[in-house]
Amino acid sequence: MFSFDASLDTLKPVDLSALPENKTALSIEHLNLHYGEKKVLNDINMKIAKGQVTAFIGPSGCGKSTLLQCINRMTDLVSGCQVDGEIILHGHNIYDPRIDISALRRRVGMVFQRPNPFPKSIYENVVYGLRLQGMKQRRQLDDCAESALRGAALWDEVKDRLHESAFGLSGGQQQRLVIARAIAIEPEILLLDEPTSALDPISTLTIEELINDLKNHYTVIMVTHNMQQAARVSDNTAFLYMGELIEYASTNDLFTTPMKKQTEDYITGRYG
Ligand SMILES: Nc1ncnc2c1ncn2[C@@H]1O[C@H](COP(=O)(O)OP(=O)(O)O)[C@@H](O)[C@H]1O
Ligand SMILES: [Mg+2]
Repeated sequence: MFSFDASLDTLKPVDLSALPENKTALSIEHLNLHYGEKKVLNDINMKIAKGQVTAFIGPSGCGKSTLLQCINRMTDLVSGCQVDGEIILHGHNIYDPRIDISALRRRVGMVFQRPNPFPKSIYENVVYGLRLQGMKQRRQLDDCAESALRGAALWDEVKDRLHESAFGLSGGQQQRLVIARAIAIEPEILLLDEPTSALDPISTLTIEELINDLKNHYTVIMVTHNMQQAARVSDNTAFLYMGELIEYASTNDLFTTPMKKQTEDYITGRYG
């Protein structure tokens, strides 16, 4: 498992502009993105704190999902998409043409808005990535499946039905299954794009508690359009507006003492 030195000082607000190298999970530098002629991200610069939860908030269409997708190069799949600038992970620019994209995606897992389990059993969903990596021994697969399901707070609910279809699970359970599938291959960074927007309030709460646990092992970056959710679960919050990073601070600072008028207008519900 990716080890993170959870020292106490990670609990204090961090000065995000001066985040030291050893506390930085990744660094986004002068990132611009176009879809065809349309500029969607404009000169984004930010460091993401290791072992913390960072939330991207902002009105619909401001570029939250696009920015998230840049971090594991999902945007490569969109034709006409052009990215320039750098995202530095372990000293390497992930947009360097020499980067192995599958290796990048093993380090940076992603979970989407709607739960998307594969049409397979619960067990086979969880071990899917491990099998792709060549893990064959039943015992080893079983152990990894259990630990991923425990990590996703789902084990107790599914341990007696591992070989039943994933589609028999509730929406909230499916989303935790997808999280288990993502963490089974032990990524360092987990990208969550509005992971609870398709879920009922109880399942939402379960996922929010889970996110809080996940940061003990992973760096979590999540998009949410729900400001209360950002306030509840994230350590740091980035407010985006029309492709620009308007303000980025510890969640507490951003919600209590925003520095920019646009941020204040947004968090007080004046637009959105
Ligand atoms: N595949 C795509 N092709 C063209 N434009 C896109 C594509 N995906 C998103 N966009 C545009 O990029 C902008 C940002 O979208 P998105 O990142 O999805 O915003 P958010 O997640 O904040 O709602 C929007 O104007 C959207 O229409
Ligand atoms: Mg989005």
